[in-house]
Amino acid sequence: MTAAREAPDILSPEFAMDPYQVYRVMLDAPPLVWHEPMQSYIISRYEDVSRAFKEPVFTTDNYDWQLEPVHGKTILQMSGREHSVRRALVAPAFRGSELEQRFLPVIERNARALIDGFRDKGTVDLVAEFATHFPINVIVDMLGLDPADHARFQRWYTSIIAFLGNLSQDADIAAAGLRTREELAEYMIPIIQERRENLGDDLLSTLCAAEVDGTRMSDEDIKAFVSLLLAAGGETTDKAVASLFKNLLEHPEQLAAVRADRSLVPQAFAETLRYTPPVHMIMRQPAEDVTVSGGVIPAGSTVTCLIGAANRDARRFADPDSFDIFRADLPTNTAFSAAANHLSFALGRHFCVGALLAKTEIEVATNQLLDAMPDLELADGASPVERGVFTRGPASLPIRFTPVGS
Ligand code: HEM
Repeated sequence: MTAAREAPDILSPEFAMDPYQVYRVMLDAPPLVWHEPMQSYIISRYEDVSRAFKEPVFTTDNYDWQLEPVHGKTILQMSGREHSVRRALVAPAFRGSELEQRFLPVIERNARALIDGFRDKGTVDLVAEFATHFPINVIVDMLGLDPADHARFQRWYTSIIAFLGNLSQDADIAAAGLRTREELAEYMIPIIQERRENLGDDLLSTLCAAEVDGTRMSDEDIKAFVSLLLAAGGETTDKAVASLFKNLLEHPEQLAAVRADRSLVPQAFAETLRYTPPVHMIMRQPAEDVTVSGGVIPAGSTVTCLIGAANRDARRFADPDSFDIFRADLPTNTAFSAAANHLSFALGRHFCVGALLAKTEIEVATNQLLDAMPDLELADGASPVERGVFTRGPASLPIRFTPVGS
């Protein structure tokens, strides 16, 4: 195992600028690193990170301090039967007929409304004018909350994600996260109580009415889940849409292939998840001493799992630093299920419950955007850069195009 001073610093400006370069070094270096400032072990190899997601010895108790202060107790912290019952309560809303019949029109409507804002202009910053709004608008609409409060939700989820990714323990970020918890509770609890009395055709009503083995969710449980949805479903899909377009615009031949054959969209999304994951790292806390490549992680310690590195491990993916939607080692048919071989939705029992919703959102958004911008290209001189350490995506994506019909 390396000593602290040899550990690549994931808090450094160099890492923030280009984590992929650091991952390349890490993946060839000793595989288990102790990071003193974060008080955390770091693992980066595909084999180790995928084990950390799949094996129950790697608990999610880290979320007791990482998330509970802002959300209250959520599904992410649960294990065993408590987790499987909670998962059974919420999961049906995010797949199958609920998704295809009830929520697909909501997704289509929200994509169209945002695109209407720029379809005649010939230019757009796809991050500022589409990606940051689309998923949060969809969730707010799915939940049956007031669209007039979109900006408020956006502020809340930004603050929650900043709390979650507060690796350097910044006091202002921590305080803002705690304020968000109070504001969100004051906002949501009366709405939940009112909705219980007047159930409708929305996701919030589904959560109020859901029952599995005699278990239902309390007002506090639902509020915590809504809070998690805003962060888990907002920030992530936001980064995914923007990164998908950045990757395609930087590989015009692959953009042309997707434009010509829209059945390639899921493939392009899967490769985007592998190559530029929205969430670069998540943590676990082993319940017992556990041996990984390079040494033993002691029981009770925190381990940071570098998704972004593991997805580019040459032991698992050929030519891992190339964006290639046609790669043979990333099957699309499993990419949005717990059998996925990229690690961007995690694996195992906490595998992203919103993966199929995210896939539907990306398919709708990509198709509508390509239809509205037949000849899109990066605006003159634009060379988009990524931003973020915990979650990551393009800071902006200026595009120009000829409006349809002009
Ligand atoms: C590209 C988009 C997305 C990415 C990259 C992503 C990523 C992830 C990851 C990495 C986890 C596992 C966290 C862990 O195990 O510690 C997760 C879990 C989760 N995600 Fe997503 N997510 C996305 C979209 C969504 C959407 C759209 C929703 C719902 C609106 C959602 C809701 C959830 C929930 C509720 C969990 C917790 C599941 C559990 O603990 O059983 N996610 N997601």
